[in-house]
Amino acid sequence: MITLHSVVKEFATKKGTLTAVDHIDLQINDGEIYGVIGFSGAGKSTLIRMFNGLEKPTAGDVIVGGDHIAELSMKDLRKKRQKIGMIFQHFNLLWSRTVFDNIAFPLEIAGVPKVEREQRVNELIRMVGLTGREKAFPSQLSGGQKQRVGIARALANDPTVLLCDEATSALDPQTTDEILELLVDINRKIGLTIILITHEMQVIRKICHKVAVMENGRVVEEGAVLSVFGNPQSAVTRRFVKDDLKDVEVEASINEIFESYPTGTILRLKFIGSTTGQPIISKMIRKYNLDMNVLEGHVNHTQNGSFGHLIVHVPELDERTDEMFKELEHHGVKAEVERHG
Ligand SMILES: Nc1ncnc2c1ncn2[C@@H]1O[C@H](COP(=O)(O)OP(=O)(O)OP(=O)(O)O)[C@@H](O)[C@H]1O
Ligand SMILES: [Mg+2]
Repeated sequence: MITLHSVVKEFATKKGTLTAVDHIDLQINDGEIYGVIGFSGAGKSTLIRMFNGLEKPTAGDVIVGGDHIAELSMKDLRKKRQKIGMIFQHFNLLWSRTVFDNIAFPLEIAGVPKVEREQRVNELIRMVGLTGREKAFPSQLSGGQKQRVGIARALANDPTVLLCDEATSALDPQTTDEILELLVDINRKIGLTIILITHEMQVIRKICHKVAVMENGRVVEEGAVLSVFGNPQSAVTRRFVKDDLKDVEVEASINEIFESYPTGTILRLKFIGSTTGQPIISKMIRKYNLDMNVLEGHVNHTQNGSFGHLIVHVPELDERTDEMFKELEHHGVKAEVERHG
């Protein structure tokens, strides 16, 4: 387990003290894939770097697997770091070493004998899907392959925790998905705890169990991915959700819809936590025999369920529609008015 108690990190700058991390409390359970999302400058990297002692907190405690990171001696910290792997946006590989030798590097440092080392590297190469590329140099690899080397290297000493700092931000969407799948696979196979920081909502949505949303050094929202993103409370979280639901496109089409349906009411029906939102809505429309047009819809899937919305046009609101909305609400579908006709 990883616990943060009231962690603060300040930097002295020319303009005075900058608080990069501002009283953060967190608990991350073993085997969890835990996401931290925030815009640039929110303090994500500073936070994650305190997990393995690359930064020392100004105040508060960072406890990883029972050890207070800031209280470890240099020697114990070096040992501890072998159990906390890390991968980066720009891979940080050794460019003059082959794939094989990059992965072997942390094992050399740990003093693992040659035969054992070779066996372990081969195992890792298989695990990350790089068989046949052992002798290649990083410059001969695609971005996705480079990150596979990064992952293999981070896992060399059998860590219990893997820290990922924007590990997919330099990759195209297809490669991002492949790397995310690899991380999920490793999480399942060896029960590794993964902490992943990103400014991309899809990354969190696709693989994280839990998420913390950061803004100005603080955690403004935290919990299961579905409940945080399905029912966002803060303005930042709402903005991430809006971008993810392609709301810009949705808004453009709502404007078109307004023009095509100058009278009547346009509603957004929001559902969360089930894949049945859509079927329930169509069932209700049939049940109440309503004249309702479904105009637009979007569903997002997370590791613990789905959320999304439908935009509908209702020519007239009356008791029947009221009753239907009540029943929908009972099923977890909320109606919001986009425009009153
Ligand atoms: N070593 C440092 N010295 C001074 N200020 C720093 C230092 N490291 C980070 N900061 C500042 O702390 C704040 C948080 O930075 P951090 O890199 O943690 O943000 P981030 O959320 O990772 O952003 P990004 O998404 O751009 O990577 C920023 O204002 C940054 O300028
Ligand atoms: Mg960063």
